[in-house]
Amino acid sequence: MFATVLLLLVTLCAQGGNGKEEQEAQRLGHVSVVIVGGTGDLAKKYLWQGFFQLYTNQVSSGNTFSFYGGGLSPADQAIPVFFEILKGVSCNKDVPVERCALLKEQFLRLAQYRQLKTPEDYQDLAKHIEQQLKEEGMVEAGRLFYLSVPAFAYADIADKVNSSCRPASGVWLRVVLEKPFGHDFRSAQILASQLGNSLKDEEMYRIDHYLGKQVVSKILPFRIQNKKFLDPIWNKYHIERVEIVLKETLDAKGRIPFYDQYGVIRDVLQNHLTEVMTLLTMRLPVNQSSNEEVLRNKLKIFRSLQPLGKNQAVIGQYQAYNNEVQEELNKTKEYLSLTPTFAAVMAHIDMAQYDGVPVVLISGKKLDERVGYARVLFKNDIFCVQNHNSVHCKPKQVIFYFGHGSLQYPAILVTKNLFKPVVMDGEWKEVTEHKDVSVLGLPISDYYVQAPTVQREAYSELIAQIFSGRKDSFISAEHLLASWGLWTPLLDSLSSSYPRIYPGGADNANLLDFRLRGKEISYANEAVVIIAPDQMGGPSTDGFQVMQGKYRSADMVSAWTEELVERLAADVQAAAEAAVSEGGTFHLALSGGSTPLALFHRLALYHFSFPWRDTHVWMVDERCVPLTESESNFRNVHDHLLQHVRIPYYNIHPMPVQLNQRLCVEEDGGALLYEREVNKLVNGSSFHFVLLGVGYDGHTASLFPGGKVDGHGDSLVAFTESPAKPHQRMSLTLGAINRAHKVAVLVMGKGKHELITQLSRVKDNPDKWPVTGIRPANGRLVWYIDYDALLG
Ligand code: BG6
Repeated sequence: MFATVLLLLVTLCAQGGNGKEEQEAQRLGHVSVVIVGGTGDLAKKYLWQGFFQLYTNQVSSGNTFSFYGGGLSPADQAIPVFFEILKGVSCNKDVPVERCALLKEQFLRLAQYRQLKTPEDYQDLAKHIEQQLKEEGMVEAGRLFYLSVPAFAYADIADKVNSSCRPASGVWLRVVLEKPFGHDFRSAQILASQLGNSLKDEEMYRIDHYLGKQVVSKILPFRIQNKKFLDPIWNKYHIERVEIVLKETLDAKGRIPFYDQYGVIRDVLQNHLTEVMTLLTMRLPVNQSSNEEVLRNKLKIFRSLQPLGKNQAVIGQYQAYNNEVQEELNKTKEYLSLTPTFAAVMAHIDMAQYDGVPVVLISGKKLDERVGYARVLFKNDIFCVQNHNSVHCKPKQVIFYFGHGSLQYPAILVTKNLFKPVVMDGEWKEVTEHKDVSVLGLPISDYYVQAPTVQREAYSELIAQIFSGRKDSFISAEHLLASWGLWTPLLDSLSSSYPRIYPGGADNANLLDFRLRGKEISYANEAVVIIAPDQMGGPSTDGFQVMQGKYRSADMVSAWTEELVERLAADVQAAAEAAVSEGGTFHLALSGGSTPLALFHRLALYHFSFPWRDTHVWMVDERCVPLTESESNFRNVHDHLLQHVRIPYYNIHPMPVQLNQRLCVEEDGGALLYEREVNKLVNGSSFHFVLLGVGYDGHTASLFPGGKVDGHGDSLVAFTESPAKPHQRMSLTLGAINRAHKVAVLVMGKGKHELITQLSRVKDNPDKWPVTGIRPANGRLVWYIDYDALLG
C-alpha cells in the first residue's frame, strides 16, 4: 500500500531568470526514488542510509517522497529482506530519540518493494507513480533511478526507464550508475554509446564514491585556499613523490564473480585513485565553481600522463584468493586465476611542473591495515647536526587522510616544518588535542591537523548532490574514456603476468615492498615461492625467442609482440648510433597509425641514451588535417614520442599539409617544399631509417593500391589519395623510401595474419600491393612480424 504520509506540499515555485536545468533542479514537489538492486549489498550498506539522510534533511523543505526498492525477486520473497534493511537506517547523533523514531517510521511508510524485471514491471511502476500523483494531487518534481546492479544490466534497464518511466517534460529524470563503467577503453565506449541511446548526458550520474569522501572533496579547496604557501613548492623542485594509497584488510570473498573479472587495478586504481591523482595535480581552476573548467584541467592531466607499461607496475595476489575463485566460480583444482589483488603503479606527468616526480598509486586486499590517504612528500634539504628529533629535518608532507588507520578519522595534515594551513571553510576545525598516535612516520604533534566537525558518509554526500542536480562530483563520459585510455594498455600488457603471491595480513612482512628506480618500479625483495611452479598452469612466460628468417626474400625478425618491439627499438638505436658516429646526424622517417605506438613508447621509456640531440625526425606520410588534430600522424608521433624525449625543435620535420590556411592544395606546393627540405638536410636524400607499416589492403606509407605508386618519377614526396577518410594524403614516394639505408616494415596482430600469408605468395606488384614495391636500391629491408601476424 502506498503511504499517504505527506509533508508540506508546495506547488512549483516560479524561478524567474534561471536556466531550465536549474529551474528543474530547484523545483519543489514530489520525488520518486527507485533503487534498482534495492536489496543488494551496496543498497544495504550505504544507499538506503543515504536516502534516509536525504529524507530527514528534506523533511521540511517542501518536497515529498516515495521510495521504491526494485529487484528481480518476487515481492513475497523480497519484502521481509527489504524492510529488514530499511529498519537498519540511523539518524545523526544530534537528532533526539523520539524524533528519530518518528522519522524512521515515516520513511518506512513511504517505502515499498517492487519486482522490476520485465518491461511490464517498469510500465506498472510508472502507472503507479502517476496514479499516486493524481490521487494525492501532487506536483511532480523528479524521478531518480539508482542502478545498483552489475554493469551488464545497465543498457537494458536504461532502455526500460526511457521507454516507460520518463516523466512529463519539466520534471527531472536522473539515473545514477555505479562503477564499473566498462572493463577497458573499448567496452566503456560501447557502454557509453548504449546508454546514450536511452538517456541524455545530463540525466546520467556516474558515481565514484571517493569524490564524496569529505577529504577528497576538499583537495581542490585546500589547494586553492593555501595557494600562497603551495604555489612555490607544488612542483618538481620541491616534491619528492606523491603517494595515493588504499590499503584494505578485507578479502574479495563473496564478490569473486565480479572481482575476478576486474582485479584491483580496474576496481580501485582506474577510478578512485586516479580521481585523487587528478585532483592533486591538475591546474587550479580560475573559477572553482566552473565544472567545465575543472573537467578541462583534469583532462589535461590525462593527456600529459606518460604511457603506462609493464615496468611501471608490480602486482600481487593474496594466497587464499585462488581457492576462493575455485570455490565461488566452481572451478577445478587446476584452475589458476591471474587476477591481481594488489598493485603498485608508478605514473609520471609530462608537464614542466612535475617533470620526474613519481606518482605512485597503491592498493591491495588483505594487507596489514585498513587506511586510505594521499601524501605529497616534499624534499627536505636540511640536515640536523645535533638534534635529529627537530621537526626541521624530518620529512615534510601534506597528507589528505581519507580515514581509518592510526588516526581513525578523515583529516588534512601538514607537517609543521612546511606551513600553517588556512582552516577549510564550512564544517571544518583545527584539531589540537589528539591521542598520542603517529601518522606516516611522524608523531601527530608534528602536524597541523584539521578535520570535519561532523563525519559524513560519501554516499550520503553524493546522494544529496544528485538530488540537487549538482554534477561536479560525478564522472563525465569524456573523463571516463580518458581514464580508460590511460589504464587499458597497462591492463593489456599485464594480462598474462603472474602476480606475486602474498600470504595476507601481517605475514606479508616486506614481501610487497617495491623500489622506484628511474621510470621503473619493481619488487624490492626476491619472491618467496608459495605455490610450487608445477602447480602453475596458464600461459607460459618463458616462451621468449626472437626468430630470424626470410620473408619475401628479405630479412625477417619475428617474436612475441613485446620482444619484437624491444628488438626493433634496439635496432633503431643501433642505426642511430652508427649514423651519428659516422656523420654526426641520424635521419629517421616515421609512419603514423597505431602499429608504431608500442615502438614509440619503448623508445620514450627505455632508450635514455638514444642520441635524440643528433636525430632528425621526418614523417613518412601525413593525413591532410591540421597537425593538432588527433587524426594527424604528426600529432600521434608528437604525443607518443617527441614530447617525451629531448629532441631539439629544429630537428623535427612535420609535413607541410597546411599552407595558406588550407589543406593539401597542389598549387601551394607543400609536397615540393618537403622534398626541398629533404634534399637540403638529408645527405643524398637517403634517410638512415624508414619505419613503415602495412595496411590490410597492402598499402604502405600513404601509397594505396591502384594509386600508380610507381608513377611518381624522381619525386620524393607526393600528394596521394586514400580510399579511407581523410582521403587526401601526403607521402614519401617509393623512390624516396627505396633510397634509404634501412627500411623496417612492422606488422603486428592476428588481424594481419591473412595479409602476411597472402603477401608471402604474391610477386612484386606495387600497383596492387604497394608494400611489395619496397626494394631499397642500396639499403636493407627488414620485416618485423610478430608471432600473431606470422602464425595467426
Ligand atoms: C569499492 C571497491 O569501490 O571501494 C571495493 O569496489 C573497495 O573493492 C572499496 O573495498 C573501498 O572503499 P572505501 O570507501 O571502503 O575506502
